[in-house]
Amino acid sequence: MDAHRIIFATSNEGKMKEVRMILADLGMEILSMKEAGIQADIVEDGKSFEENACIKATVIQKMAGGIVLADDSGLEVDFLGGAPGIYSARYMGEDTSYDIKNQAIIDKLKDAEGEERSARFVCAIAAALPDGSVLTTRGTIEGQIGYEIVGDGGFGYDPIFYLPERKKSTAQLTAEEKNEISHRGKALRAMKGKLTEYLGDSQ
Ligand code: IMP
Repeated sequence: MDAHRIIFATSNEGKMKEVRMILADLGMEILSMKEAGIQADIVEDGKSFEENACIKATVIQKMAGGIVLADDSGLEVDFLGGAPGIYSARYMGEDTSYDIKNQAIIDKLKDAEGEERSARFVCAIAAALPDGSVLTTRGTIEGQIGYEIVGDGGFGYDPIFYLPERKKSTAQLTAEEKNEISHRGKALRAMKGKLTEYLGDSQ
């Protein structure tokens, strides 16, 4: 176990870049699973974003020691009763393209107008700590499902996630603009606050 490092349990390089930027001033080394030499196939069978993030973080923490962070995120569409929610990545099949998934959501909302199109991205982050306890944070960004697929930035559901006040989808924001307002950015900054407190107390 190394007291000066944090492992972020993801294999997504885009997320790692964002995490390194936001957590830089904690003064800890931030490693991906690959960099930490850890491989794990984790069954995410939790019933909430928080449960899934906790499952990932605690499994890896038991393998690696130290502080391990993990996230779980997704899109909630109110008109669809909160779907796809925690099943966002698996929605319509893991290998189905987002062009198809995004068009399917637009089609399902053909009878929804204005406020009825409300949706949010949610991100939960869990930090599994060496003493066996777990910290969690949640960040959200509110928006609406657009009427068409627009923008080529971001990933996943970004091209249909419309921000009325900016008149843009999140796929039309720069990476920096998105980090400032995104569910993941908010959850990460909240976690940075909790970790700063924890690290201060444990010294
Ligand atoms: P995970 O947190 O990596 O399991 O991702 C869950 C899924 O939620 C992703 O595969 C995307 O479909 C969706 N998702 C989460 N965050 C975003 C985002 O910022 N933009 C677009 N889609 C997202």
